[in-house]
Amino acid sequence: MVIAVDGPAASGKGTIAKALAAHFGLPHMDTGLLYRSVALNLWRWGGDAASEFEALRACDVSTVDPDDPEIRSEPVSRIASTVSAYPSVRAALLERQQQFAGQPGGAVLDGRDIGTVIAPDATVKLFVTATPEVRAQRRVRELLQRGMPGHFEEVLTDIRARDERDAGRHDAPLTQAEDAVLLDTTDLSAEQAVAEAVRIVEQRAAIPTRS
Ligand code: CDP
Repeated sequence: MVIAVDGPAASGKGTIAKALAAHFGLPHMDTGLLYRSVALNLWRWGGDAASEFEALRACDVSTVDPDDPEIRSEPVSRIASTVSAYPSVRAALLERQQQFAGQPGGAVLDGRDIGTVIAPDATVKLFVTATPEVRAQRRVRELLQRGMPGHFEEVLTDIRARDERDAGRHDAPLTQAEDAVLLDTTDLSAEQAVAEAVRIVEQRAAIPTRS
């Protein structure tokens, strides 16, 4: 079973994907971390994000460290959003994601183009959204919890800019796959969103509900 979870920044897709992986006993890949690792690499050696050539050179990342304190910082998020629009960068990261999706037994992947490009034949596709304001609130909370500064207005502006870049890019734009189920988490707690996602997957994959 392959589960594709796509959606914009701070929509709750990461939390949902992680919980689905635990619930169904599947491995999970946060594909945003790949783009963030490229961005971090570029940032550390002082490369120019405006150059596709330099961004491509930064794709040579063998390790992805989800616990690196800088990986979710605002500069790295911004660079990730810029470099992920380059076709050569997306192509360089494609095989790694498709291999993960194709492993025996299945997998859960979350990102922007899982249901449309990486795993178009996924068993179940979820498109997770929430209003920009709610997403900005969540991101501020997350930043503060990590001990980083988070200002609502700045974060909201940044989220809107990233939405526009993600949806407007030519290569693999953020868009809901035709056969994806829309899950709006605006008025849901994390627990409610996860419960709803589990229900959708069970229904779509015709898995008998555990009683
Ligand atoms: O949730 P958030 O947007 O903060 O971050 P993320 O999912 O870790 O993704 C970081 C950046 O990588 C995003 O701004 C996207 O532009 C890009 N990305 C992408 O283009 N394709 C993916 N499959 C995953 C992330």
